[in-house]
Amino acid sequence: MPRLVFDFIEGAAGREVAAARNQARFDEICLQARVMEDVATRALSLEFLGESYRLPFGIAPMGLCNLSWPGADALLANAARSFGIPLCVSSAASSSIEEMRDLAGDKVWFQLYVAPPVEQSLDLVERARRCGYETLVLTVDVPQVSRRVRDLRNGFTLPFSIGGKQFFDFALHPRWSLTTLLRGAPRPRNFLQSGKANRFDRSASRAAADWDFLDRLRDLWKGRLIVKGVGSSADALKIKQLGVDAIYVSNHGGRQLDSAPAAIDLLPKVRAAVGPSYPLVFDSGVRAGEDIVKALALGADLVMIGRPFLYALGAEGGRGLASLIRAFSEDVSVAMAQIGAATIADIRPDALFGEEETAEDDRAAFMAPARKRA
Ligand code: FNR
Repeated sequence: MPRLVFDFIEGAAGREVAAARNQARFDEICLQARVMEDVATRALSLEFLGESYRLPFGIAPMGLCNLSWPGADALLANAARSFGIPLCVSSAASSSIEEMRDLAGDKVWFQLYVAPPVEQSLDLVERARRCGYETLVLTVDVPQVSRRVRDLRNGFTLPFSIGGKQFFDFALHPRWSLTTLLRGAPRPRNFLQSGKANRFDRSASRAAADWDFLDRLRDLWKGRLIVKGVGSSADALKIKQLGVDAIYVSNHGGRQLDSAPAAIDLLPKVRAAVGPSYPLVFDSGVRAGEDIVKALALGADLVMIGRPFLYALGAEGGRGLASLIRAFSEDVSVAMAQIGAATIADIRPDALFGEEETAEDDRAAFMAPARKRA
């Protein structure tokens, strides 16, 4: 893909410290192998908010996926359907809410950005309801889009403004450029309904997604509601108390606050705040099957992945996407065998190195307090 497209996908806020930290922290977390458990067959399926999925991970909401490869949205929808994994369609998707519902089936989720006018956002909610979405994800960590230096340097704008630099970039990627030219440059389709004055301004404030709005949305939306982009325990508790069905812990892949802690460090704190049975989704920095296992051990019920799917699409289209999903799933399965987990429910905090002894100590303390005192 052209450099400016790759940079739009790969890029993050500021100096890209948060994005790097997301991944680096995963590498520091170790799993504890266990031996001689009954793991000859392993089940990777799970239930989340009453829906069953065949794998413990899914596709995070991303705007303009068709930039990675023409027709990427349809390929993502097909993959979600055939692998039985959740796909979250972005407000800023390059296909419409309705098209994506048709392509992806009844398990697809819709992600909402709230930008002024608020009525335009509520219109998206109504369209999602009308065409049968049952899960709505409200993203709240983009009160203002961050400065993405790569985009500024590359002159990445939508629609594309094509000067000499961009022309040269496209010319060096003829297959991408010609197919994209033939199919039409990707646009945020949900905002291009004929006869309506709606549009998507990427730089507009999305701070209208405030507490009052969430309260209003909870009344309005009768389906499952998830709030995405949460990392503070205090916020998480407040959201839970407002009757939201699940929290999506994420730092937007490091694309918003460059000084944010690694998202994986936020997860156990949020888990501790909301209690053991409140549903949590996680994303940011997952790059391997073992990262998925680590996130599950640290308190996630379901793990979402962003950029890697777009890289796979850019490299090999639908074939790349399918082989990446297979690779993640095989890696999760093999890692489960190593840590003695036959089902997703068996992946608990004691799968983490360093936690095991504590768990054993706690058990010992529970069973034989006298011995511990001695
Ligand atoms: C995103 N993300 C995002 N999130 C969201 O709620 N709505 C959106 O429209 C988008 N758009 C978007 C575009 C692109 C190109 C990227 C890379 C990301 C954030 C996304 O849902 C997710 O939180 C991160 O991508 C997770 O981090 P990793 O897996 O990419 O490290």
